[in-house]
Amino acid sequence: MEPVVAPSSVVVRNYLGPGDERSLADDVLDGLTKPFKELPPKHFYDARGAALFDEICELDEYYPTRCERAILQARSGDIVAVCDASELVELGSGTAEKTRLLLDAMRDADSLERFVPIDVTEAMVRDCARTLVGEYPGLRVHGIVGDFERHLGRLPMAAGPRIVAFLGGTIGNFTPGSRRRFLRKIARLLRPGVDHLLLGTDLVKDPAVIEAAYNDAPGVTAEFNRNVLRVINRELDADFDVEAFEHVAFFDREREWIEMRLRASRRMRVDIRALDLAVEFAPREELRTEISAKFTPERLSGDLAAAGLELVDVLTDPDGLFALSISRRR
Ligand code: SAH
Ligand code: TRP
Repeated sequence: MEPVVAPSSVVVRNYLGPGDERSLADDVLDGLTKPFKELPPKHFYDARGAALFDEICELDEYYPTRCERAILQARSGDIVAVCDASELVELGSGTAEKTRLLLDAMRDADSLERFVPIDVTEAMVRDCARTLVGEYPGLRVHGIVGDFERHLGRLPMAAGPRIVAFLGGTIGNFTPGSRRRFLRKIARLLRPGVDHLLLGTDLVKDPAVIEAAYNDAPGVTAEFNRNVLRVINRELDADFDVEAFEHVAFFDREREWIEMRLRASRRMRVDIRALDLAVEFAPREELRTEISAKFTPERLSGDLAAAGLELVDVLTDPDGLFALSISRRR
């Protein structure tokens, strides 16, 4: 007899609206009027930024994606056995390329029912939802176009035991206090004894290796970095001379994070017309666009503990460059 396969289904909900251009506007207003200018990283990812990020992942120098994929290739079966989940929620899912390894393992364990991706880039959520229901018969996809910092409350009710995956080392893009605050929010989503967090973190290592990953020879990361200025030009009617900003990325050895900046090559005045704001840049003045924290075992366990989470297992690639940890609510 043919096994009965429940029909696949796709729902995509968009929680971003006109209010979210405002969120860019508010962030720009805050960030560019500070004594040390900075911008939050989520504004990199318009369609062009997302495509550039995909290119970054293919670079020889950018080891995190390769390492995380290697861990998932080797250990997805074990992860799924520990978590025994029927539902995968993914924060900042992007193209969900590595995620397929987890979905494969869940399908092979005969437990896969639903995938819930959340990302700020609408096209990405829609494309990946459509592609995945084609690849996994019977899969339900509930996609969320939203900001994971503001829209976790929009996740659908859990349909079964859940894995919440936060991959790619994106957690490292939060500053230390916000990072713990965000982990605590995730922890509150997890039901004790039922759900698990699967967290990807890049590890502290030879600074030369880390710095190379953010200073690739073809200059893709530099383009990605400058893309945030293009987004502001387009969305807020600004006149940044994008090419006049130089990409800077270095490992801060004390804080153990990569810091990405844009350095003005000359004195500049930028008009951000939608905000009625003029911003002055001194020659060589730098604007911080991103940090990417690297983890020691102590940093990882400290952050998880502060969020009320306990480690179940830490998996690394053969070279020990990247870690994927499984944790649960204490
Ligand atoms: N998980 C993928 C992509 C990592 S890049 C991987 O491991 O390769 C970071 C992703 O998070 C991007 O797709 C970006 O659009 C998304 N993102 C960044 N900030 C976000 C936010 N505040 N809310 C939702 N998605 C966000
Ligand atoms: N989460 C990724 C990281 O921190 C994102 C990333 C990779 C990134 N390269 C970048 C973000 C360059 C901004 C600029 O590694």
